[in-house]
Amino acid sequence: MIWAMRKGAAQPPLNYWLPRGDREVDRLNVQYWALNMQMGNRGYIAPIGTPSTILDVGSGTGQWCGDMAEAFPGARVIGIDVEPPREASDKYTFIKHDVRDRLPFEDGMFDYVHQRLLVAAIQLEQWPSEVGELARVTKPGGYVELLETWPRPSHDGPATHEMWALIRKLEKRMGHDLGGAVFEQLPSWLAAAGLEQVAEQVFAAPIGSWGGRIGEMLWRDIEDVYIQLAPVFSKKFLIPPGAEGQAYLHEKLGLMLQEYEETHGTFTFKCAWGRKPG
Ligand SMILES: C[S@@+](CC[C@H](N)C(=O)[O-])C[C@H]1O[C@@H](n2cnc3c(N)ncnc32)[C@H](O)[C@@H]1O
Repeated sequence: MIWAMRKGAAQPPLNYWLPRGDREVDRLNVQYWALNMQMGNRGYIAPIGTPSTILDVGSGTGQWCGDMAEAFPGARVIGIDVEPPREASDKYTFIKHDVRDRLPFEDGMFDYVHQRLLVAAIQLEQWPSEVGELARVTKPGGYVELLETWPRPSHDGPATHEMWALIRKLEKRMGHDLGGAVFEQLPSWLAAAGLEQVAEQVFAAPIGSWGGRIGEMLWRDIEDVYIQLAPVFSKKFLIPPGAEGQAYLHEKLGLMLQEYEETHGTFTFKCAWGRKPG
């Protein structure tokens, strides 16, 4: 089911730089499966019990919402995102909403509020109030869970270093987190939002075929990010336009993969959660 909400107070234009075509839908699905496998074949870590109302903020393809609706058959699941999912689902309700606006829900509506991988969607200074909003709509006794990644892979070979520098330059122009501040501060933002029993779990996931199926999926994820960003990089004069820029990216991607395979490169994720008092 898809709902469109009334537009809220004016916000600066969206500065999210990934497109939403078929390739991005595939990428997000692959990333979703890799993460779920790494998390023990489930989409959450917090001790949520059996929630009857679940909110996913930045719901992307809607896979997480659909799977949670199956895992908790009695639950009402709502996903919000600026982009509707490609296919409507009757397992959950989608609401089109910009997370930088006040959430379109009353206080204390959800047993469990989940938000994953929104570092490129929310500007650093907006994070504390955004996490405050997640806490506001959570029921007393309910949980908020956040998951983000450390901004760089664990090993920096020369090609990897050069390619991540491209992303960092882009993020700087967009006002996003450059140095891992979001990753570091997730627990303190949850505590500042009034949540208790704040806890975190940090885990690494492999990149490249040395890491089996998960490693292959995460490499595909990274490769797809760069290929999709080629026009954005050249528009911002970070790589040459057209075929020359494409050739540059493909050459560096080949070297990057080699570096991950040789050094057993990993991505680090942090999941942090807290309980609303009451
Ligand atoms: C990297 S994806 C993560 C999607 C999903 N949470 C997952 O783990 O697969 C980021 C999502 O944030 C959404 N997004 C970006 N800016 C947003 C905004 N201002 N408000 C709501 N959603 C936003 C994008 O449309 C995209 O679906």
